[in-house]
Amino acid sequence: MTQLAISGYGDDLMINDVRIGDLSPQEHENIEKKMGGRNYHPLENVVISKVKDSSTLIARRPDPEQVKAYIEEEVIDGLCCYSAVNQGQLNELIVDAVVHHLTIEKLPTVPRSIRHKYMSAFLLAATGITGMDRVVPKVAGVEAPDLMFKLSRRWGYRVKGVPPNEAIVVAAKGNFHGRSMTAISMSDDQIARDDFGPFVPGIEMVTYNDIDALKALFEDKGNRIVAYLVEPIQGEAGVIVPDDDYWPRVAELCKKYDILLALDEVQTGFARTGANFAHQLYGIKPDLMGCGKAAGGGILPVSFVAGRDDVIGVLTPGSEGSTFGGYPLGAVVSVYSIKAMIDLNLAEKARIRGKQLMDRFENMKAEFPDKIKEIRGRGLLTAFEMHNQPQLNGHRVSLELLKQGVYAKETHHSTVRIAPALTISADQIDQIADAINKVIREL
Ligand SMILES: Cc1ncc(COP(=O)(O)O)c(C=O)c1O
Repeated sequence: MTQLAISGYGDDLMINDVRIGDLSPQEHENIEKKMGGRNYHPLENVVISKVKDSSTLIARRPDPEQVKAYIEEEVIDGLCCYSAVNQGQLNELIVDAVVHHLTIEKLPTVPRSIRHKYMSAFLLAATGITGMDRVVPKVAGVEAPDLMFKLSRRWGYRVKGVPPNEAIVVAAKGNFHGRSMTAISMSDDQIARDDFGPFVPGIEMVTYNDIDALKALFEDKGNRIVAYLVEPIQGEAGVIVPDDDYWPRVAELCKKYDILLALDEVQTGFARTGANFAHQLYGIKPDLMGCGKAAGGGILPVSFVAGRDDVIGVLTPGSEGSTFGGYPLGAVVSVYSIKAMIDLNLAEKARIRGKQLMDRFENMKAEFPDKIKEIRGRGLLTAFEMHNQPQLNGHRVSLELLKQGVYAKETHHSTVRIAPALTISADQIDQIADAINKVIREL
């Protein structure tokens, strides 16, 4: 029988005779490569250890003198867990609420088959902030587009009158909705799809930000199309911001053909783009909206689908659900993640700090026109794209940025996304921009 002894906390956490605080960055990498799923390509030679402040992390790097297992350095978090930590690392308001509810309020863990008092709090807060009729809680981000997909199909059959099994969901080329079978069935990313087929049927792809292509598809198959399931700004694709008139025109087309507009705001939601939800930047209202990431304040995975009464109304007991979707701790975390977004004016902060960063990007583009091809962004969801040349490599830029004390990550070969916590200071934005400037200059 395997003998396993686990003791201690933090660096003193022991798994048998291995003390976590003794491992070098190389040893961490070796363990991950040997025992993990190898489904990520993390930045080399760095291990994040803890939080210093809401936008600063403590990282362990190899000791240049090779005496100690590692040295510790501060890095500014320019990625904030792919926009899951909009409220800042260890946001005090959320952490205090979690600790209080676990220790003082004796928060239970129960599933949805019995009512708990925090579900009402979650529903009141989530419908209040989204302005939607109904909300269904889930856990991981990917579950939000998954559920929107299911809801759209059932609504199509039961309300729109699509013949059985003929529903079509329209997805946009270049999208990212996560890694489930439904999400990769909507994807055109070959790496995400290779040898995972057969895929979910009933999906049509359309070019993003091409209103004529969408119109032609709706004209052709509109009576069977139930939804256009799409990101308001494509995040993983490298922060692709559509034309200003795209969303109002899409909303109009969806209305005309009785097709649901199902927006995946998992990355763009929760104040990231300078509005509480990105669709508000364009003056439209979707029929369904999926949120995740910062819906749990970076503390816990929480996602949800918010939407129209008659669409979410197609759910019946037993047709949907999950053990941890809306359980008490998830509900509490989400309520206080919403409160933090409101109380800290995060949308306004994203607008102000986003403008500061984009202004710096503009200057860099003017300074290095042969290196920086394009800058894109809304609020603090920003990216710069370099020209397609071997030395203008996003992964290399990320590694060089790390040496300058900034953590960021490429989205594609030549694009680097910068999306720090919305609580970031003006000084820290300048530090990020200074580091990028130095790295680009030396490329
Ligand atoms: C738009 C969008 N939808 C869904 C997801 C999936 O979220 P998760 O990785 O939490 O499942 C992501 C993740 O990056 C995303 O950006």
